[in-house]
Amino acid sequence: MIVIAHLSDIHLDGSDEPRARLRRITSYLAEFSRPVDVIVVTGDLADHGLEKEYAEVAEELQSDIPVLMLPGNHDSSVPLRAGLTAYVDSPGDGHPVHQVREVAGARFVLVDSTVPEEDHGLLSDESLAWLDGVLREPFDGPVFVAMHHPPLSMHHPVMDQWLLLSQERVEAVLEGKAVTAILTGHVHNPIVTSFAGHPVLGAPGIRSTVPFPFEPAPPNGIVDTTAPPGLALHIHTPGEPLQTVYRFP
Ligand SMILES: [Fe+2]
Ligand SMILES: [Fe+2]
Repeated sequence: MIVIAHLSDIHLDGSDEPRARLRRITSYLAEFSRPVDVIVVTGDLADHGLEKEYAEVAEELQSDIPVLMLPGNHDSSVPLRAGLTAYVDSPGDGHPVHQVREVAGARFVLVDSTVPEEDHGLLSDESLAWLDGVLREPFDGPVFVAMHHPPLSMHHPVMDQWLLLSQERVEAVLEGKAVTAILTGHVHNPIVTSFAGHPVLGAPGIRSTVPFPFEPAPPNGIVDTTAPPGLALHIHTPGEPLQTVYRFP
């Protein structure tokens, strides 16, 4: 059995509140009698992509458990690579920060869905070719594709400003491939849906939650920074369907 702790959108910026919200999650994980096998953080690690913010990310996520990270639209490739050398293993020296990592018998294809200086997501022709090639490699075990931008519309006036573009091209690459699940962040909501025939499992936003317009309005605007931070636990048992639970410790 493999247990994956899936965190997202920590948005560390040197201030107390995001740090305290992340610590609610990390201290919860530290209490497990059977530690999770891997922690995956699906982007928006730093709030402004600054060097000092990555130093904080590196310090706050220090763990005996392997920690995998990928960039979100708030991140910046060069300072991310420089500040997170202990966590990120990606060829090249700038954008994109793609990675293939194997932990606990599982393969994690960590896709950089960001566009420098933009908030929407997009995979270039080169990125799509890379993803296609990686997913064609035989692997005996679960394969998780992780990326910041989920391949969907939230039908939300705010979140839909920053969609993953050209979703049909991503769909063509993912369709028919052996993918256990697609792990995403960005929309600051725990989401469960499907794409290209695969489950899409989005982690809650640790920094905040963005409710739908039809939900009760948060006390402080569109973004709810009072909703509890949360995470997903993905539990993979060989021969069984993936199970996911969401926790808001
Ligand atoms: Fe975010
Ligand atoms: Fe984001």
